[in-house]
Amino acid sequence: VREPDLAGRHVVVSAGGTREPLDPVRFLGNRSSGKQGYALARTAVARGARVTLIAANTALPDPAGADVVRVETALQLREAVLKAAADADAVVMAAAVADFRPASYATGKIKKKDDQEPEPLALVRNPDILAEVSADRARPGQVIVGFAAETDDVLANGRRKLARKGCDLLVVNEVGEHRTFGAEENEAVVLAADGGETPVPHGPKEALAETVWDLVAARLG
Ligand code: C5P
Repeated sequence: VREPDLAGRHVVVSAGGTREPLDPVRFLGNRSSGKQGYALARTAVARGARVTLIAANTALPDPAGADVVRVETALQLREAVLKAAADADAVVMAAAVADFRPASYATGKIKKKDDQEPEPLALVRNPDILAEVSADRARPGQVIVGFAAETDDVLANGRRKLARKGCDLLVVNEVGEHRTFGAEENEAVVLAADGGETPVPHGPKEALAETVWDLVAARLG
């Protein structure tokens, strides 16, 4: 059994993937299952933390012992993360947040017209929540962790993203043909703003979660 090294700590974890509605029945979404975020929440509870899990459109049972806040869109996820982060020791952004959302929302179902070409879909940018919580830390020493999926030049792109986001740790996943969202296992490198680089071999999402909490706990002191 592991030491409760996160006892007395409040950690916030985002999980799943946002849905950006077009009309009452349609949305733009992604294939994130939420499994990595839920593994982070479960392992943090086991290590003694108070855990707020912000879950975006997941089909997973609530992890025992975590406070679960359910959201749908990137804007709702932002609200929930900022609120929970106000008194958090660490924020881990495992959710897949849509970069863009439809520029307008139709309150009635969008209809096709037989003799007309479809309208082009106008999008606007969503706020970058990870960059925002990193830039405006709610308390000194708060540890912020991001996730990134890269297909090539994984380490170089990861380093650039870490600097751009301003977070402390970035978990970089190599994604490709046979590494898809929804899998039970993961393989990653955790890059640290202080130059550290921790490879995590192919294995269960719990193992990657434990490594993330090891690195977070070391920074919380
Ligand atoms: O820029 P990219 O989407 O690759 O970055 C991924 C990381 O940034 C994840 O941790 C994700 O939760 C976070 N993110 C965010 N807000 C966005 C887009 C991504 O917080 N609008």
